[in-house]
Amino acid sequence: METKLNHVVLAAENDIKGAQSIHELMNIKAKYIGKKSEIMDLMKTLGSLSPEERPKVGKTINIAKQNIENLLENRIVKLKEMEYQKTLQDSKVDLSMPGYAIGYGSLHPLTIVWREIEDIFISMGFDIAEGYDIEDEFHNFDALNTPKDHPSRNLADTFYIKDDVLLRTQTSTVQIRTMENYKPPIKIISPGRCYRNDRPDASHSPAFHQVEALVVDENITFQDLRDTLNTFVKKMFGNHMKSRFRPHFFPFTEPSAEIDISCVNCGGKGCAICKNSGWLEMGGAGLVDPNVLGKLGIDTEKYSGFAFGLGIDRITILKYNIPGLRLLYENDIRFLKQFTMNN
Ligand code: PHE
Repeated sequence: METKLNHVVLAAENDIKGAQSIHELMNIKAKYIGKKSEIMDLMKTLGSLSPEERPKVGKTINIAKQNIENLLENRIVKLKEMEYQKTLQDSKVDLSMPGYAIGYGSLHPLTIVWREIEDIFISMGFDIAEGYDIEDEFHNFDALNTPKDHPSRNLADTFYIKDDVLLRTQTSTVQIRTMENYKPPIKIISPGRCYRNDRPDASHSPAFHQVEALVVDENITFQDLRDTLNTFVKKMFGNHMKSRFRPHFFPFTEPSAEIDISCVNCGGKGCAICKNSGWLEMGGAGLVDPNVLGKLGIDTEKYSGFAFGLGIDRITILKYNIPGLRLLYENDIRFLKQFTMNN
């Protein structure tokens, strides 16, 4: 009987190997171990065997049946794998095709200009100082000689977080923080973000950027201020550019001035951008009021200083001919993408 069983297993093995589908395998399964199979017929004869022979023969038949079941199982796994490979081949996916190129990011135009400003001033011997966006009234107003009833302190102009804490309205706060911590000679710039309660439009944004400069040393004069600003303007916009000062008032500088640069669009001839004046406003400047220096323990007999604050946003839109501030804050990828080459 064992020889007979071996033959059955061999025949089953042959058939299983040749099966090309699960359906075919199910038929083979029925043929070799199904109800009407030879193996099942042999099982039925077990009853007529002697009690000693029965377990031995039963075990042999079971092993043969188990072997066939294992062969079937393995073939199913193999067929599924073959089917998967075929789907891969038949599908339209071309695995050798190159993928989509991932676009390069770009620096924001404000970042490009911010870095350029830093580079220019570093080349002129300035250090970079940092301040805080969240400030107290002392550094934003009091220490800058701003009277208690000055309109810039109003809720309508300044964002207060609580009584004494606010979002700084100017980078001039860093003048104070620098003089609190360092003795003259001081020569710093401080670029940073400022906040004012302004309605956004082409020339206003509630968050904007300034770069502050502060120089305190012996014999600092208004001429040093002019020379420094002129050099910066030429390095930033080109040698043909000029700057000029118009008398103005700031609580912490005396004398004070507003800074204009010649119009980047018309070069000073007069156009729509400069409202035919030939000049564009860039920020404020002046000699640091001795009152401010004195309160910070600086000997005003020995030292004097100048300071200025320029709008980085304004420099950026002029440099790249951007129509208005809004584009700088909307994060429209079509706009930002145009600056990729400048990085
Ligand atoms: N902080 C002033 C402003 O925001 C500008 C300024 C800076 C003026 C430094 C004088 C000196 O308007």
